[in-house]
Amino acid sequence: MALVLDGVRVREAIKGECRPRIARLIERIGRPPGLAVILAGSNPASQVYVGSKTRTAAELGIYSETLTPPESVTTDELLAMVAALNARTEIDGILIQLPLPAQVDAARVLMAVDPAKDVDGFHPLNVGLLSTGRPGPRPCTPAGIIRMLKHYEIPMAGRRAVVVGRSDIVGKPMAMLLLAENATVTIAHSRTADLAGVCREADLLVAAIGRAAMVTKEFIQPGATVVDVGMNRITSAEEAARVFGQDPARMAQFEAKGSALVGDVDPRAMAEVAGAYTPVPGGVGPLTIAMLMVNTIESCERAASQTNWPQMNTDKHG
Ligand code: GUN
Repeated sequence: MALVLDGVRVREAIKGECRPRIARLIERIGRPPGLAVILAGSNPASQVYVGSKTRTAAELGIYSETLTPPESVTTDELLAMVAALNARTEIDGILIQLPLPAQVDAARVLMAVDPAKDVDGFHPLNVGLLSTGRPGPRPCTPAGIIRMLKHYEIPMAGRRAVVVGRSDIVGKPMAMLLLAENATVTIAHSRTADLAGVCREADLLVAAIGRAAMVTKEFIQPGATVVDVGMNRITSAEEAARVFGQDPARMAQFEAKGSALVGDVDPRAMAEVAGAYTPVPGGVGPLTIAMLMVNTIESCERAASQTNWPQMNTDKHG
């Protein structure tokens, strides 16, 4: 039987570590960490995500506020909002929920966030700190995956890791974090020749492609650890039958709701071939928000201790 890597359990462990750190900060600086979220427009999925982020902050006692400019917001208006948040000392973290409306120059807006308040770890300065092994905020989803692998004592050093997907949010930072854990890392993607064969070499396979159940049995080395970052909503009965065919409970759920959440990995393949895997839902998803809280706390801790950040001394790599 494959080991199921339970994201809810790891999320609760992370939240448990957050509480005393927040209490210490309140004692030291007389205020909780502060997070500001910019949610532009009315993307329903973004509204759900941001609601979960601010609820989690409230539950932990982190101050949060959400700014909600309309869909028609301009790049300049967003730049002005970011500048105002950069200047507020009680705001430690600034998160710009993606995607931004089409007319906005998203790269410019993300670049305008003070790197010290960049709790997504998307600013090029922070990308550079990650890739050179210096302390700094790490993108939440890949950082959560590393936490989960450590929680379950899944070895990474010396193992072959294949990351499928090369996004700036997940694929690339995931590869850098695995490299920092001394894994031997390959980044594969939609243009990789013999993608299934490359994936089958992996002791640790991370799928972050954004295509429902694209990773099938042929991609998985028996006994490998499979991390499924995908969150795809499927609405067609054919697709549901292909993915859930032999799982009457999930077929019944699909029929009742008319849609279902599916990862990038065929759930049956994971359960049957992998040694350990993250389910969808309930695997990687719960970790992202928990790590956003950690990044907000760390940003506040850095501000409180006024450490010289970024630190330019490097970790040693062999
Ligand atoms: N939209 C989907 N995922 C994310 C994320 O991790 N951060 C931000 N800012 N927006 C997102």
